[in-house]
Amino acid sequence: MSVPMLSPASAEVVRATLPAVDGAIDEITHRFYRTLQEAHPDLVREMFDAARLADGTQQRALAAAIASCAALLVADDAADPATVLAPVARRHRAVGVQAPQYDVVHEHLFAAIADVLGDAATPEVAAAWNDVYQVMARTLIDLEARN
Ligand code: HEM
Repeated sequence: MSVPMLSPASAEVVRATLPAVDGAIDEITHRFYRTLQEAHPDLVREMFDAARLADGTQQRALAAAIASCAALLVADDAADPATVLAPVARRHRAVGVQAPQYDVVHEHLFAAIADVLGDAATPEVAAAWNDVYQVMARTLIDLEARN
């Protein structure tokens, strides 16, 4: 399998905005789970551990995964994101995450990014981080489909 990569243009924007996103990522992931829960209460109740959401463990795990994956994708010696995402894919398989659910997560995660970053989330910034999400989602979906 070829290693999914960011375009050079997206990588440049992500590199420049990594500190701002890192600084806001905890607020983004908390808001994300709140709005996901409001829009899809059954999905969240059935799939997520209530205690991990209540004490912020899940929010921090998602934040760390996004931050570390983005940093890896824009590093000089960009590595395959599968190296950091393999444990996440194992957990997702265990709880039965389905590929179409990545669109649901995408919708709420990017609404949270736009809300928290405000004016800093220009269309260019949103598009570059969208590329990061797509690389992560493609990598996870691919890992989760393997036997
Ligand atoms: C790029 C997108 C995603 C990323 C980066 C991501 C990241 C993570 C991480 C880091 C964990 C914690 C793993 C662990 O503690 O071992 C996790 C767990 C989980 N994720 Fe995802 N995830 C993504 C998409 C999704 C989607 C689409 C769903 C479907 C609803 C989902 C549902 C879950 C569930 C149910 C858990 C387990 C939670 C628990 O143990 O209570 N994730 N994810």
